[in-house]
Amino acid sequence: MPLDPAPVPEELRGLRVALLVAGGIAAYKLVDLASALTQAGCSVRVAMTASATRFIGAPSFQGVTGNPALTGMWAGDAEAPEPHVFLGDWAQVVLLAPATANVIARAARGQSDDLVTAILLAARCPVVVAPAMNDAMWVKPAVQENLKILGGRGVVVVQPEAGHLASGHAGTGRLPSAAALMEAMAGAVRSRYDLAGRRVVVTAGGTREPIDPVRYIGNYSSGKMGFALATAAADRGARVTLVTTVAHPDHRGVEVRHVETADDMLADLRVQIRGADILVMAAAVADFRPAQRAGHKIRREETPHLELDLEPIPDLLAALANEPEAGGVFMVGFAAEGSDLDAKAAEKLKRKGLHAIVANDISRRDIGFGSEYNEGVMLFADGARETLPRMTKREMADRILDLIVPRLQD
Ligand code: CTP
Repeated sequence: MPLDPAPVPEELRGLRVALLVAGGIAAYKLVDLASALTQAGCSVRVAMTASATRFIGAPSFQGVTGNPALTGMWAGDAEAPEPHVFLGDWAQVVLLAPATANVIARAARGQSDDLVTAILLAARCPVVVAPAMNDAMWVKPAVQENLKILGGRGVVVVQPEAGHLASGHAGTGRLPSAAALMEAMAGAVRSRYDLAGRRVVVTAGGTREPIDPVRYIGNYSSGKMGFALATAAADRGARVTLVTTVAHPDHRGVEVRHVETADDMLADLRVQIRGADILVMAAAVADFRPAQRAGHKIRREETPHLELDLEPIPDLLAALANEPEAGGVFMVGFAAEGSDLDAKAAEKLKRKGLHAIVANDISRRDIGFGSEYNEGVMLFADGARETLPRMTKREMADRILDLIVPRLQD
């Protein structure tokens, strides 16, 4: 037993870590790991399978982490009324260890019949699985195929080590050292949190330009693409501000600011872009607004024929591009076009002084406004052109961020 805790990689320090402990003899080694992570400033929470509790007691984990270890679906307390989703939602990295053949099989099938498999299914963060079992079980095609399934879904699988096994044999199946487990977790975190330390501002929804106190000029924008971008950036470690005209569910790491008009949006963005790394204007900003806003509800009897005098709304992106604070901000616009996607997007990219623009075809009914799906093309000021094939808005958000990240300044 090491006297000093294993060194904790920089990427893991201070993170929220969920340790999912399954029923293998190596379960006791997780106490050391939980202790090392806690000492490195991580907030560590443990969930155990029923079998794991036969090998090690929940109080051991509570002792080293300071948090009660969850042992069942129905052990909810005030903080975790739904333990099966709470930990998956809360964690920034999940480690399942020692992963037995049984828990691996259940995870590969997408089962959620106990707390540990339910948390795995609900996890939004990188998941690392560290198998440990008898050498004969380890080499069975059933186990290897299940691990391949998990790997194909983005789970990081740590290979077990060769050596002395509890069965008395020498073979492959030992749980790797705490240092190796933490290195695998750090690797998973590194690639997933590529926006850590970055500030991202996203706009969403259509602006509402008032006619009178009860009516406005709006548009069909649902705000879904902007919301997908905001949540994707937050899931990748960014601090995100979402300036939106429509309500969205709460999401960890996203600060929501409600605005109504283009003027409100511009005023808020002027403040929010200070110190930001990326601005994505996914909002559908109105181009015209009533020149006067009636102070009272316009009544039918008042006017047999209502004419609205509309004045142009200045371009928000162009206005922001002129702000000194926008200097280091990577500016991304959206262009909703009915035809000549590339040519019109390229013209807007240049005219608005953007770093990139995402263009999509609004004549298509299966993508864009209100849909869960989108499709388009992304053009960059550096001349690059990327096709974005039909995919969910969340997938597109991640694809867009994949393309932005390598272009960010340090
Ligand atoms: N935009 C803006 N301010 C406006 C209008 C649009 O900042 N007053 C932004 C949008 O948020 C989007 C991009 O500019 O990111 C392109 O919007 P779009 O409506 O396609 O462009 P317009 O400049 O309005 O051109 P047009 O309506 O003539 O196609």
